[in-house]
Amino acid sequence: MTTQAVAHQHGFGATARRDVWWLGPLATSIGLLSFVVYSTWAAFQGAYFEYGPYLSPFYSPLIFGNSPHAWIQGMPGWWPTWLPFSAALLVLWAPGGFRLTCYYYRKAYYRSIWMDPVACAVGEPRKSYWGENTLPLILMNAHRYFAYLAVIFIGVLAYDAVMSYIWTDADGAKHFGMGVGSIVLTLNPIFLGLYTFGCHSLRHLVGGKKDCFSCSSFGHARFKMWSAVSVLNRNHQLWAWVSLFGVGFSDIYVRMVAMGHWHDVRFF
Ligand code: FES
Repeated sequence: MTTQAVAHQHGFGATARRDVWWLGPLATSIGLLSFVVYSTWAAFQGAYFEYGPYLSPFYSPLIFGNSPHAWIQGMPGWWPTWLPFSAALLVLWAPGGFRLTCYYYRKAYYRSIWMDPVACAVGEPRKSYWGENTLPLILMNAHRYFAYLAVIFIGVLAYDAVMSYIWTDADGAKHFGMGVGSIVLTLNPIFLGLYTFGCHSLRHLVGGKKDCFSCSSFGHARFKMWSAVSVLNRNHQLWAWVSLFGVGFSDIYVRMVAMGHWHDVRFF
């Protein structure tokens, strides 16, 4: 009997596979759930998200707050009194939605968390395929719109990276400086850019629906952009994980330094 037949006849988890097929889904679920738990805790904490010129990417852009990083000083008057204020809640929905609807992450958590399908030739928990053409999964089609927002966030975080080199003295004078945090906050938008600019939806946006680049207006430029996105797209899974680790570590770094647990080494 083939491995596919065993899986089909004997239900969820049944397989004739002899390899450690469960290792990938297990590692993926641990990685994703760890990030979700940490980022949710960090988003609701509402404190220790800045240190000097450093701003945690979870709280950027800081739209409201009592901080030199804030666009608008103070708390929003319309914030519900029953919910502790955290500026992260105003912005995290956009990069969160971008990752949640990403084609790679969909594959990852459909397999590792929903376990449907958990792996090739392993029995599934459901008999029918529902697809993504009804609620709630039809909402995954919003990915292209989240992608446009994600590009804006890359610009915001790149600005934060530049500002992480601008230190303010006790007398208010500003000067160029660099600490370990500056490097961490510089690498973060680079990793996020390598992930974001390899997005399947952006690839379609710049080069999709074109059978003949040279026949279309701006064809040469579009082909160049499509080729560049395609290079990153080939390693989209790698950049998805590297950038996830990078953005999580950036928050941890700023938080640990702000709480006094870690010392930020200053080079100059
Ligand atoms: S497909 Fe992964 S970010 Fe768009």
